[in-house]
Formats: sequence, structure tokens, C-alpha cells
Amino acid sequence: MSLLELRHIQKGFSGIPVLKNVSLDIEPGEVHVLLGENGAGKSTLIKIMTGAYSKDEGEIYWENQRIEIQSPVDAMNLGIATIYQELNLIPQLSVYENIFLGREIRKGPPFRFLDHQEMKRKAKEYLQRLGQDISVEELVCNLGIGKQQLVEIAKAFTINAKMIILDEPTSSLSASEAAQLLETIMELRKQGIAIVYISHRLEELKQIGDRITILRDGAKIATLPVKETSTDEMIQYMVGRNLDQKYPKEQFQLGAEGFRVEGICLQGSEKEVSFAAYQGQILGIAGLVGAGRTEIARGIFGVDQVKSGKVYVEGKEVRIQSPQDAIAAGLAFITEDRKAEGLILDQTLEFNMTIASLKNFRKGSLLQLEQLTQIAKEYITELQVKPGDVQKHARKLSGGNQQKVVIAKWLSTHAKVFIFDEPTRGIDVGAKVEVYRLLNTLVKNGAIVIVISSELPEILGICDRILVMHEGQITADILRDHATQEGIMKAATGGM
Ligand SMILES: Nc1ncnc2c1ncn2[C@@H]1O[C@H](COP(=O)(O)OP(=O)(O)OP(=O)(O)O)[C@@H](O)[C@H]1O
Ligand SMILES: [Mg+2]
Repeated sequence: MSLLELRHIQKGFSGIPVLKNVSLDIEPGEVHVLLGENGAGKSTLIKIMTGAYSKDEGEIYWENQRIEIQSPVDAMNLGIATIYQELNLIPQLSVYENIFLGREIRKGPPFRFLDHQEMKRKAKEYLQRLGQDISVEELVCNLGIGKQQLVEIAKAFTINAKMIILDEPTSSLSASEAAQLLETIMELRKQGIAIVYISHRLEELKQIGDRITILRDGAKIATLPVKETSTDEMIQYMVGRNLDQKYPKEQFQLGAEGFRVEGICLQGSEKEVSFAAYQGQILGIAGLVGAGRTEIARGIFGVDQVKSGKVYVEGKEVRIQSPQDAIAAGLAFITEDRKAEGLILDQTLEFNMTIASLKNFRKGSLLQLEQLTQIAKEYITELQVKPGDVQKHARKLSGGNQQKVVIAKWLSTHAKVFIFDEPTRGIDVGAKVEVYRLLNTLVKNGAIVIVISSELPEILGICDRILVMHEGQITADILRDHATQEGIMKAATGGM
């Protein structure tokens, strides 16, 4: 018997079909993976399962009963819990208060006081069921993102979840946090809970998945047993062709020092960071999440104030006290957090892609609008942004396609120094290759390219030189030919 069955689901937005006749069944206790390119319809499909969107056509069955899921409350009452990428925790509350938020346990009448003891006891039990040893009285703000996510999962027990849906849960986790999450998922599976799992990290899917359903352009291509399907087959189903190269690395002549920072020290820190980057070389910055890589980049770019430090572009010192100064000095910073810092969601793609480079489109006091549209169109083609309509609002794009728009916005500035922070987070395998090709093109055109990434295969696959950070400091500076996963991990954990 299947737990949840979707039959012939159709969904469109303003007349454009996004899900086309999708049928799918989830069995109790299985890990069912949804795989597909950016914009294939994965998030839309799960939003139908969780009552966030209503379907246009089709039928839904829960334990063989025909039902409708018209709101998130309906889904919760059935026992469907969802872990979204943005966590819904209140940082100033404790772990147990968060777990029971909105579903507090109260003592019997007459006063109905909150039963803190009982909530603590149960919270502890839930975390133990996840194999976790987190203090239930700890404030959530004191926990790392990986632990916070586990607290979010523990909430699922308060509704007696039979099914837990996770949409790209590991994309903001470090390698060890991700490994822990995968273990937790296997634990839930053992307890008979069905898991619906979305991720662009194919290695993960191999590790935990029972069955995999592949979507392409809103249609279901196949449901397959994971064990009997190779990664290459998955990719082929997903993109409709073979990917000959995951990392299209090109070699360039090593050039001049184009960028240098000296003694950058962040507010509230005693540690200093210095490094130089050269033309012809992609410089990677590896490290665990929380090692201080993003903070240093924000300091360099003038987003956060620094206590001290100097920045040189092409040998000349530049003074940066704000992002405007940084842009004027020829820097571009492609942030990891596209919603908060990268995009204006209620503006068009064209607007978002050209906002950082408007000065290039001025002629006297006039903006050359046609040229602006032209450039936006070029980037849409180059990065395979879908849907490729320059007038579309950024909000309406899938997560991965939004990320591509952020990249385009900075490419159009023709900066001298590009700092990418997790550039391929949430981007599908096919589009990743396009992003890597773009990095190559930037280097070929003489730009300095710095890539912060937590994915070691990516760092090793595309960078020529790798800096490793640990607790706010650079602990290694390794050339590609000498770099190994083990060596980087060792430096990233401080064990040199
Ligand atoms: N609220 C909306 N209004 C209009 N179009 C939308 C809306 N939400 C999603 N879409 C469109 O539906 C399609 C599927 O999007 P969805 O978010 O389901 O993709 P996805 O498979 O989750 O992709 P990703 O891997 O990038 O997260 C996309 O073309 C997207 O632009
Ligand atoms: Mg999505």
C-alpha cells in the first residue's frame, strides 16, 4: 500500500504549464528522491503535497483514500511535515520551546499553564529518536545551522509525521553536518517514516535513496530504484543528454598579481588574513561552514566594517568602506544568499541583471534600454536561465534559476576581481558546467576569479590554487597539483 499517491497532477502559472500529468507514489518508510534540472518542477510538486499550492487537475490519495490537501494545516493533520530551506525557528527561544511552538503542551484545567517539564521531556525523547544529543534548554541561536535543522526535524514528531519532505536540506550545511543529516534520515526511515528528498548532490542520493523520480520540464521521465541506476544514467534522464565533462577545466598562462589583501582584520576578531590572487589562475577558498570565508569576503567588499587591512587592485591600493566603493574599485561579490543580498524579487530579470552595471549603459543622461535588454538576453542564453523571458519577475523563478540571475548581474559589471561565494549552490549539474565555463571565460579575459566553496570536488575540479581557512585564518595555500581531499580537510579542521 502506498502512503501518498499523486495521479495525473497538472499545475500551471498564468497559463504556463509547470507540472504536466505527473503521477507518483510514496511508500511508507522509503526515501524517495526527486531529481531534475533547475525549474523542472520539483518544488512546485512538493508544494502541492504540502498544501502550499493547489493543483489544477489530478487526484491525491492518502493511504488509499481520495483526499484533498487544500492548506498546510490539512497536510499537517495527515502527518506530512516539511522542512523548507529557510528554517522557521525563533533564535531567542530554547530548543524545546521551538519544537513545541504553536503546539504547546498544557497542564490540565483549570488554569491550563504551559507544562514545561513535559515539553522538555518529550523534546529530549524526540531528539533521541533522531540519535541526537542536543540540550533541550539551549537557545536555538547558539546552535549551528546543522543542529538547527535537526531541531526543525524534531518538530515533525509533534504532529506524528508519517512523511517528511526536505527540499535541498544540505545545500547550506558543511560536509560533516550534511553527513549527520543523512544519518538522521536513515534513522527516520528505520522508524517507518517516508522521506521525500530533493537535492542536486548526486552522491547523496546514491547514499540514502531507495527510489528516484526524475522530472524534466514538468513531466515525469521515470521512477527507478536507486541501487540499479548509475549517476550517469540519472544525469542522462535529467538533462536528456550525456554530460561529457563535469569540470571543464582550462589552463591559462599565469599572469600578474591582480589582487592582494594585507592584514584584513574583522571587527571583534584578532585574526588577520592576507593573500594575493593572480591572473590566469582560479583561486579557491575552502573550509568548513563557519570558518570565516564569507565574513572575510564581506569585509573586503565593504559590506561589514573592518578594523584594519589594505586592499590592492592591480597593484594600486584602493580604499573600500562600502559596497559602492568596492564596485568603483572594480570588485564584484556574488553572494551565497541570493534572496537577502542578491536579488530584488519583484523586479524583472532584465532589471536584476543590469542593476549593478547601469553606468555602462548610459549615453549622456540617457539609459540605452535596448542595449540593456540585449545584454540580459545574452546572459539568459549563456546561463540557460529558464524561463528565458527578460520581463519575468525574479520571484517566479525556481531557486537555481534565481542564482543564475545573480551571477549574470555581476558578470555584466565587467569587474576586474570577482569573488564568488558558493556560486553553484542549488544549481543543477548541467548548469554547473555552464557556470564553470563562465569562470574560465572570465579568467581568459584577464579577470581575477576567487571562488569560495564548501564542495571539495568542485574546488579540486575547477581551481588552480586553493587557500584553506580555519577559524578565521588561512591555514594552507596549496597548488592544484599538490591538493588532495585529505590535505584540504586536515587544514580545514586545523590539524596541520
Ligand atoms: N509562483 C510562481 N509563479 C510563476 N511561476 C512559478 C512560480 N513558482 C514556480 N514557477 C515556475 O515553475 C517552474 C518550476 O519551478 P520549481 O520551483 O518547481 O522548480 P525546481 O525543480 O524546484 O527547480 P530548482 O532546482 O531550481 O529549485 C519554473 O519554471 C518556475 O519559474
Ligand atoms: Mg526548487
